[in-house]
Amino acid sequence: MLVAPVDPWSWFGPGRALGLDKHGGTSSLLFQSWFHSSGVLQSGPPQSGFFSPIDGVMLPAGTFSNRVAFITGGGTGLGRAMTTTLSQLGAQCVIASRKLDVLQHTAEEISSQTGNKIHAVQCDVRDPQAVSRCVDQMESQTGLPDVIINNAAGNFVCPSERLSPNGWKSITDIVLNGTAFVTLELGKRLIQNQKGASFLAITTIYAESGSGFVAPSASAKAGVEALYKSLAAEWGRYGHRFNIIQPGPIRTKGAFSRMDPTGAFEKLMINRIPTGRLGKPSEIANLAAYMSSSYASWMSGAVIRFDGGEYVSMAGEFNELRRVTPDQWTVMEAMIRSTKGS
Ligand SMILES: NC(=O)c1ccc[n+]([C@@H]2O[C@H](COP(=O)([O-])OP(=O)(O)OC[C@H]3O[C@@H](n4cnc5c(N)ncnc54)[C@H](OP(=O)(O)O)[C@@H]3O)[C@@H](O)[C@H]2O)c1
Repeated sequence: MLVAPVDPWSWFGPGRALGLDKHGGTSSLLFQSWFHSSGVLQSGPPQSGFFSPIDGVMLPAGTFSNRVAFITGGGTGLGRAMTTTLSQLGAQCVIASRKLDVLQHTAEEISSQTGNKIHAVQCDVRDPQAVSRCVDQMESQTGLPDVIINNAAGNFVCPSERLSPNGWKSITDIVLNGTAFVTLELGKRLIQNQKGASFLAITTIYAESGSGFVAPSASAKAGVEALYKSLAAEWGRYGHRFNIIQPGPIRTKGAFSRMDPTGAFEKLMINRIPTGRLGKPSEIANLAAYMSSSYASWMSGAVIRFDGGEYVSMAGEFNELRRVTPDQWTVMEAMIRSTKGS
């Protein structure tokens, strides 16, 4: 007879017991805090060894020769990594954000490695006039771009009951309005010039599910995805493709200092990622380069989740059972087999 708690999830709570009595055919067993005391949680997932990142550039040299790429937020973090990869592949890049000194420093560093020109343009994407001036400057320096990556964003964790209208506005202005201003300004000029282009937006895995504590970001990123899917349908006739990458956690100073200021959540994140590690900036840069290249000319309206499996891992109701050891499965199997009727 089964004497374990009726709710199977309570088996997994700290300090709860799982037991079988002798009528179940197994001697009485007590499992106190199974996985909390298990080596898996203490040492980090061993499977990360199966999924080692490769740092090198994936596409053939010269893939972006004679191409111009415009990357918002290209001075730091993932934007910087994407700029580096595109520049290595021959693109002339234009990077734009608010801090001109950061952009100039990045531009000099990357172009001294790749030998390809990188232009730094100051632009606050929240301001449509500033976006228009930025595109004017780009047109005169490089011409209109072939590749546009909307990567700039702002975010911070905050209980929604503490959120001020300003907090809401500052995030949604950068993420949704900023992406819309950049995309519409460039789109209109490209259409006028009968020039095709690839547009890529960097969103997040919770654009789909929503997420507590980042409601402005979740709402704005969902809006960006709706914009890009809409334009994928509408502007294919002008030679424009629109795609989306939803990254999972990839360590950057900008993201991690505002999303995990104490560092406490990193281990939790890693433990729920089936590939057992965070992503690397160079990995998303290779994906972004592929999606922006002519190798992907049939890809439009695509939403690529790039998260080591984190999203599905959080979604599946029974996924916590991966913490059960083979011995524990033997016990559970006996319990299930010994159950008669319903
Ligand atoms: N890293 C992750 O784990 C992760 C996960 C999911 C999604 N993402 C997404 O990946 C993208 C890059 O994030 P990241 O991790 O690389 O963080 P990051 O280094 O902080 O990048 C954000 C960039 O946006 C720029 N920016 C902010 N406000 C702006 C404004 N008003 N106008 C123009 N540019 C502005 C910043 O430059 P300035 O300060 O100079 O303006 C900065 O370069 C973001 O869209 C983020 O939502 C990241």
